[in-house]
Amino acid sequence: MRIFLTGATGYIGTAVLDAFVRSGHRVDALARNSMKASEVQARGATPVLGDLTEPASYADAAAAADALVHTALDDSPRKAEVDSRVIDTLLASAAASRSVECLIYTSGVWVIGSTTSPADETAPLNPAEFSSWRVAHEERVLAAATDTLRTAVIRPGVVYGGSRGIIGDVLKDASNSLIRVIGSGENRWPLVYDRDLADLYVRVAVTLGASGLFHANDEGDEQVNDIVAAISQHAPTKPSVRHVPIAEARKKMGPYADALALDQVVRSPRAHALGWNPSLKSVAGNAARLMEEWRRGHRD
Ligand SMILES: NC(=O)c1ccc[n+]([C@@H]2O[C@H](COP(=O)([O-])OP(=O)(O)OC[C@H]3O[C@@H](n4cnc5c(N)ncnc54)[C@H](OP(=O)(O)O)[C@@H]3O)[C@@H](O)[C@H]2O)c1
Repeated sequence: MRIFLTGATGYIGTAVLDAFVRSGHRVDALARNSMKASEVQARGATPVLGDLTEPASYADAAAAADALVHTALDDSPRKAEVDSRVIDTLLASAAASRSVECLIYTSGVWVIGSTTSPADETAPLNPAEFSSWRVAHEERVLAAATDTLRTAVIRPGVVYGGSRGIIGDVLKDASNSLIRVIGSGENRWPLVYDRDLADLYVRVAVTLGASGLFHANDEGDEQVNDIVAAISQHAPTKPSVRHVPIAEARKKMGPYADALALDQVVRSPRAHALGWNPSLKSVAGNAARLMEEWRRGHRD
């Protein structure tokens, strides 16, 4: 397949790029500048120089693809507005194209909010304030499906692996001898290994009929305190752990603090129905390996 990919230099997008290339697909990857273009080229993609905020820079490349995979997120305060325009652009490209048959949109499990029972893709939404804008975007993508266009929304859990992301931050804090936990730490995070998540993107893209919502997490139901304790054992010196009250954290981090304090148990039955079976099912149980990956700062 020919894939048009946004976010190919990002945490999720890099893993997704590698997975598509490994599976023998051609990837046209949006890159913001020549340095980023060289990065994606070195991983096997054909760079498309452009920016999410300039739809004309990538609309034609999207229209030439078979599948559109959106993993980028603009890092400015206008992220929701920019993301909405990206959806407009990708849908317009799909409508104008003879080849595009699939659009995959990246959301996240925080739209579900704290759970009272295990949440599969049918669970009602109670989004964290930080992610509330996402809900309308998911709905638009899902409602845009036609006889000729499959649309899918993937909701990754908190991603681990390599050197980036929230778990990457915990590994870094552990190495710097102080880990801050927002709230009691008794809350559970839904988690997913970056390479396992990327495998799901490929499965959705290549499986005729794969459409709708897909949760993507390893179903380990790990408490933040257990993750922190396991990682602490593999730090050069045992780090201090400070539990920061949510109200205090909110002053510094805004609604991101509440998202980190969500207690979530999430299930991914629709991904399993595609044959998806994560290779890693725990952060705590793989703390030594993850610390080593973080140290190396690159993927295996
Ligand atoms: N990481 C997680 O644990 C996690 C979990 C659930 C959901 N998600 C969601 O998954 C998506 C990707 O997350 P991530 O962690 O991979 O993010 P990330 O590492 O910050 O990557 C963001 C990507 O978007 C690109 N980008 C940003 N602004 C752009 C612009 N104006 N034009 C073109 N490209 C632009 C970045 O390019 P540059 O390299 O040029 O900056 C980068 O490739 C986000 O929507 C996030 O909310 C993430």
